[in-house]
Parts: sequence; structure tokens; C-alpha cells
Amino acid sequence: MNIYEQCYRQLKQSGQQAWTGEGYERAWRKLTAILQALSKKHVLPAPGSVCLELGCGNGAMASLFMARAGYQVYGVDISPTAIGWAQETFSTAGLAADFQQGDVCTLGMYHDHQFDLVFDGSCLHCLIGDQRQRCYRQIKRILKPNGVFIVSSMCGQPKRPEDRQHYRAEKYQLMRQGQPWRTLMPLPRLTAELAASGFIAFKTSVSENPWWDHATLCCRLI
Ligand SMILES: C[S@@+](CC[C@H](N)C(=O)[O-])C[C@H]1O[C@@H](n2cnc3c(N)ncnc32)[C@H](O)[C@@H]1O
Repeated sequence: MNIYEQCYRQLKQSGQQAWTGEGYERAWRKLTAILQALSKKHVLPAPGSVCLELGCGNGAMASLFMARAGYQVYGVDISPTAIGWAQETFSTAGLAADFQQGDVCTLGMYHDHQFDLVFDGSCLHCLIGDQRQRCYRQIKRILKPNGVFIVSSMCGQPKRPEDRQHYRAEKYQLMRQGQPWRTLMPLPRLTAELAASGFIAFKTSVSENPWWDHATLCCRLI
């Protein structure tokens, strides 16, 4: 079974609210502060616009914020349990959204230029090697020409000794049980990767943590 599916089964069974488990309230406060600031600065398209969250999980983060704010919300996640969970909670709350199980590297269910906003729900850093380029190609296809792509990603270097031990610096990969687990690259490298893939970051902010940093990059198509 896929590792993400396994995680969501456990999270749901143990009564957690979302992917971040006990850290949900903190993660929600951080995300909403970021999205509210971007909305004030008109970086987000106007409410009513069509947005997609990549790696939406159970919908309890960006998708929830966007739905409450009046956007037309779509979400995709690899875990069927997460998607079923998102559908259930949105339906109970009377919120509309289209959640589908799928892989962000092959987004054939969406048509060309469908979205005003594609929001990376901390999914990009889960993609390893050529998965990243495959995902970028899909985003370029489904984003409207004047659309916004917001990346929310781990960045920098691992700071804790136990993570440094399991970091393959030449590939920017954190390893877990001998397998690449996360892509973790310095911000200039991430910005350069985005530029080489057709996205220009016009607004970037970084939040520092004791383990590694987390960047929000607001991008447009080049
Ligand atoms: C770090 S979690 C974040 C979940 C949620 N967006 C949040 O903010 O709490 C990353 C999410 O990406 C999903 N994911 C990982 N790889 C994926 C892929 N290739 N296609 C679709 N979803 C993927 C995982 O199932 C997980 O829900």
C-alpha cells in the first residue's frame, strides 16, 4: 500500500484532524496568515476563481480556506482515504469542492487552462527526481496564461544532525529507510528549478524552523 494511504488510514483512525496531526492548529494558523496576506496584496485571484490544491490530503488546509473564501475548489491527492475524508467533511459542512484521487504527475482529468490558481499543498517536496518535471509540465498545461502557481515547500538544508546524516546533498534528497523521501533544496536552487521549468517567482517568503525552512513562492508562467 502507498505510504500516504497508510498514513491517512492511521490519521483518520486515531481521530486526527489532518496530515499535520497534533500540529494542525499551528499549521492552520500559519497557512491562513500567509493566504490572508496574499489575498490583501491581490496575489490571489478574486474569490469565485477556479483553484486546484495539489496534494490536498483531507481538504482541511488550503482547500478549506479557499472554499470558505468563495473560490471554486478542486483538490487532488494520491490517497483514496484522504479524498473520501475530504468529500465527507466538506459535504457535512455544506461546502462545495471537487476532490479526486490521482497523481499530480499525470493530471489528465483536468483540461488545458482550467485554473486561475494552482496551490501546492506541500506536495512538491514529496516529489522525487523526474516526478518534479512531470508535475511542472502538468501545471503549465492546466494553468490559465495569467494564472498563479503558489509553491509551498521545504527548502534550505537539514539543520538537525539526524537529518544531515540522511541527506544526499548532490541530489537534494532526504532519505528514509534507504529511499528518497523528500526533495529539500536551497531556495536559490528551487527558484532556478522553477525558472528552468517555465515559472518566474515574483514574490517569495521564507519561514525558518529548527529542522529546515519552508518557502512560499508565488509564480507566474514565463
Ligand atoms: C505534506 S502532505 C500535505 C497535505 C495537505 N495539503 C496539508 O497541507 O496538510 C503532502 C500530500 O501530498 C500527497 N501526495 C504525495 N505525493 C503525491 C502525488 N504524487 N500525487 C498526489 N498527491 C501526492 C500526500 O498524500 C499528502 O496528502
